[in-house]
Amino acid sequence: MEKQHKKFNHKTLGTLVVITAALLFGAVAGAQNAAAAEAGVAAESVAARDARMTWWREARFGMFIHFGLYAIPGRGEWVQWNEQIPVGEYAKLADQFTLTNFNANAWVEAAKSAGMKYTVLTARHHDGFCLFDDPGNNFTTVNTAAHRDVVKEYVAAVRQAGLHVGLYYSPLDWRFPGFVMPDLQRQNAEAMRDQYHRQMKELLSNYGGVDVVWFDGGEQDWLDFGADWRSGGDRVKRPADKHYHGGFSWQHDRVYSLLRQLQPNVIINGRADMPADFRSREGDGALGDFDNQQPWELCTTLAGTWGYQPNQKPKSLKDCIQLLAKVAGRDGNLLLNVGPAPDGKIDPAQVARLREIGDWLGRYGSSIYGTRGGPFLPGDYGTATFRDKTIYLHILNWPGEKLTMPAIAAKVVRATAMTGGTVTVFQTDHNLELSMTSVSRNDVDTVIALELDRPANALTPLEVKLASNSPGAR
Ligand code: GLC
Repeated sequence: MEKQHKKFNHKTLGTLVVITAALLFGAVAGAQNAAAAEAGVAAESVAARDARMTWWREARFGMFIHFGLYAIPGRGEWVQWNEQIPVGEYAKLADQFTLTNFNANAWVEAAKSAGMKYTVLTARHHDGFCLFDDPGNNFTTVNTAAHRDVVKEYVAAVRQAGLHVGLYYSPLDWRFPGFVMPDLQRQNAEAMRDQYHRQMKELLSNYGGVDVVWFDGGEQDWLDFGADWRSGGDRVKRPADKHYHGGFSWQHDRVYSLLRQLQPNVIINGRADMPADFRSREGDGALGDFDNQQPWELCTTLAGTWGYQPNQKPKSLKDCIQLLAKVAGRDGNLLLNVGPAPDGKIDPAQVARLREIGDWLGRYGSSIYGTRGGPFLPGDYGTATFRDKTIYLHILNWPGEKLTMPAIAAKVVRATAMTGGTVTVFQTDHNLELSMTSVSRNDVDTVIALELDRPANALTPLEVKLASNSPGAR
């Protein structure tokens, strides 16, 4: 079932969302100040925005946590929709939600052990179930068998550990038919919107500082999953360039001004038709291109679906490290997801993998944290990052005995193979040649630090073309 959803959601809606997000982001970024003005928020200078984004840019790596009633059936966070489980029946899962092994400190400990610098928890997913106390609605963790405010415990633990706090929130709520028929069921859609505005106020007022608000499904184009109803009862998908044109509006401008008033430094993703601080790329297939202009983050899962599925094997350590290197080299952040089991515990195999990632970062983290992507653009060889006068090459594929990179307008004063062995660098006006014996190469990621005679940020990003028939490629 989840596969079906993925197909629907990621191929069709996903494309639509990406295209819309891209269009919107361009438009939104360009018209950011106009939108801010419209929302009654003072326009922000580029310097102020950069300052607000600094910790996030430097963090590079965070943990996504999908948790809710859907963990009980264990078939992913879309189980209710995919299996069309009646709202009343689904709500009964609350009686089994005991959270016997839920300890927010253990979640945060797992994130910290992985070297993650921030966490984003699903305060409320599309099923409408709140992980926080909402006096205006009973469908919350406070009214389950556990009687606990999960967001409260989570926020306290994250903050105490010195990490940054993120909350995911879905404005859409499947309990409201107005989401699927925003015009026919206008009143209902507006009640859903009232709930969204009220809950945002609660989340932004009752839990202290919130560093990231991560919206999902808040675009106008998500209404009815990007389709229109036609006479005769047909539901017709809107082409990517045709937007929702009905009369319902989420009135995101109001939420945006609330966000900026209550949490002036909050960082917002680009999935709710409001001025955004970063774009989301979703899933392993969405790694995309290098982009050092608009901040972006790739989110993906460590194992299986976003919401808990039992017995899912986590990605290998090699895949995790290579993904992180590929993301950092493209100048993005990686938000890696875990879906705790219904009792609140993260699967031990995933906890173990997270610790291994953290071990790697403990040794080579200087090549990831606080770096920017480039100046060598990603290619078959791997990726590159830099900080100050040092370029970090993440070589994921050696084309042969030698790796020939394009010439750079700086002198390499020292080359160190951080992952072991010796690297020899031969620099000419035409290229930069690196040699390393095969035993010295690292199977996961050969990290080579190139110290330059000047700051690397002065170098223009360079494309790296390798000879396709080089011997010894792996
Ligand atoms: C998709 C899914 C949702 C998940 C999100 C994470 O939008 O619909 O279930 O929370 O991706 O990015």
